[in-house]
Amino acid sequence: MFIPLQQNPVSEQVAILINGESVQVSKGISAAAALLKHGLKANRLSLVSGNQRGPYCMMGVCFECLVEINGLANQQACMTQVEAGMSIRSQSQFRLIALPQKESPLFYDVTNKEPNNAI
Ligand code: FES
Repeated sequence: MFIPLQQNPVSEQVAILINGESVQVSKGISAAAALLKHGLKANRLSLVSGNQRGPYCMMGVCFECLVEINGLANQQACMTQVEAGMSIRSQSQFRLIALPQKESPLFYDVTNKEPNNAI
């Protein structure tokens, strides 16, 4: 389904992990291209419907390509160039968001009826 527009016979290959499986890809291609080249059409599930999602625009606009890269969740695969040893994992669960702690100036007590003027 996906083929490079130009074949470079001397392009350097690097080893990366896709969902724990070691694969060889051309150095410098995007993580999304690497996923598609290796047959992974869906890299996450929609948080709303649970439907499978995969890279769509390949230019950083749609955010359908979010994956975990080197342990960091919600990375845009289409905007990330592969590097040797990179680990790319599909996302299949809701992500937890760290809320500000009470000591933080960003903390807002939702039970407080006063407006938050700290920000
Ligand atoms: S494929 Fe659209 S933002 Fe990555």
